[in-house]
Amino acid sequence: MKKILITGGAGFIGSHVVRRFVNRYPNYQIFNLDALTYAGNLENIKDIQDKPNYTFVKGDIVDESFINDLFSKHNFDGILHLAAESHVDRSIEDPLAFVKTNVVGTMNLLNVAKNQWKGNFEGKRFHHISTDEVYGSLGTEGLFTEDTPYDPNSPYSASKASSDHFVRAYGETYDLPYILTNCSNNYGPYHFPEKLIPLFINNIINNNPLPLYGDGNYTRDWLFVEDHAVAIDLVFHKGKNHETYNIGGFNEWKNIELVKLLCNLMDQKLGRIEGTSQELITYVKDRPGHDLRYAIDASKINKELGWKPSVTFEEGLEKTINWYLNNQEWLKNVTSGSYKDYYQKQYS
Ligand code: NAD
Ligand code: TYD
Repeated sequence: MKKILITGGAGFIGSHVVRRFVNRYPNYQIFNLDALTYAGNLENIKDIQDKPNYTFVKGDIVDESFINDLFSKHNFDGILHLAAESHVDRSIEDPLAFVKTNVVGTMNLLNVAKNQWKGNFEGKRFHHISTDEVYGSLGTEGLFTEDTPYDPNSPYSASKASSDHFVRAYGETYDLPYILTNCSNNYGPYHFPEKLIPLFINNIINNNPLPLYGDGNYTRDWLFVEDHAVAIDLVFHKGKNHETYNIGGFNEWKNIELVKLLCNLMDQKLGRIEGTSQELITYVKDRPGHDLRYAIDASKINKELGWKPSVTFEEGLEKTINWYLNNQEWLKNVTSGSYKDYYQKQYS
């Protein structure tokens, strides 16, 4: 039986990856290691908690001795590393927290994998999950490919870029069998309402202002989270060691256009007159260092592994909105307590 460690599996993307692996691979023993920060939530994975091939471990990847102990108890065959501080706005307020988790935490995992596998890499794999934000910002033309030079602008993307470099350095220096994926913006169920789509859904439900940064003409490529989980599964099993795969939705939207679409869909779902939610759009002070545009060329993973997104943006958004409307208790729980302080500080 294979022992697989997934880090950050109580977060947004991690919960979808853990669920997929637990349900799809009953012959794997899946360990979900998560510190349960503000972004981690056991409610996100409640449906799999009693599965026989699943174990939850609460712990911090920055804690070196804890990580060493965990690895000496379990000889993991594979690691899917998703644990991270993930929100750009929080990285602007507290960059050091991002260095600790994203850089030092990743280093601890790389070290322990190198030391435990001791050059015997047969059947072993370290899959580092990263972002397209490491490539910096595009102008109005062009796409990020796997060969685009790194040029991160936010403390978040700089910390992820640093962790990517360390992963590759361990591959070059110690032969660590790594694989890296860089993905565009995800959306879907269990997304913490600090990011654009879930924050705006929550605010529309509660008739609160929709704070659009700058002129709203920033562009992102959006991918439904379950399609990302499928891509990660495919790359983990079929990708080549020491390779990078970009993952994207072929789905670019200017923020203002996306928000208008979201408002119209929400008006329909909530039985409100069309145009009601759009009145909530409020232009606010821009994010410092705001990247103009991200867009991914995902042709490598498409050609080599046959992956492409399975749902259209309209389908994915509808699934997402339905999930939030059917899970308003979840939304209420995650937006009580410290969320209120965060919101006040960020948007007042
Ligand atoms: P998230 O913030 O929703 O979840 C992060 C998870 O990591 C949480 O469960 C949290 O408790 C856990 N965590 C944080 N610090 C930890 C620590 N020190 N030790 C152990 N666990 C810790 O993030 P997400 O959006 O699910 O992103 C997951 C990964 O995917 C990240 O590495 C992120 O950089 C990457 N990514 C995200 C996106 C996106 O659009 N959200 C896109 C591309 C790549
Ligand atoms: P976000 O969801 O934070 O993802 P990222 O910054 O990692 O791409 O933001 C997506 C886009 O939405 C980005 O251009 C910033 C913008 N945005 C707003 O205009 N208002 C907001 O309140 C948030 C959170 C984001």
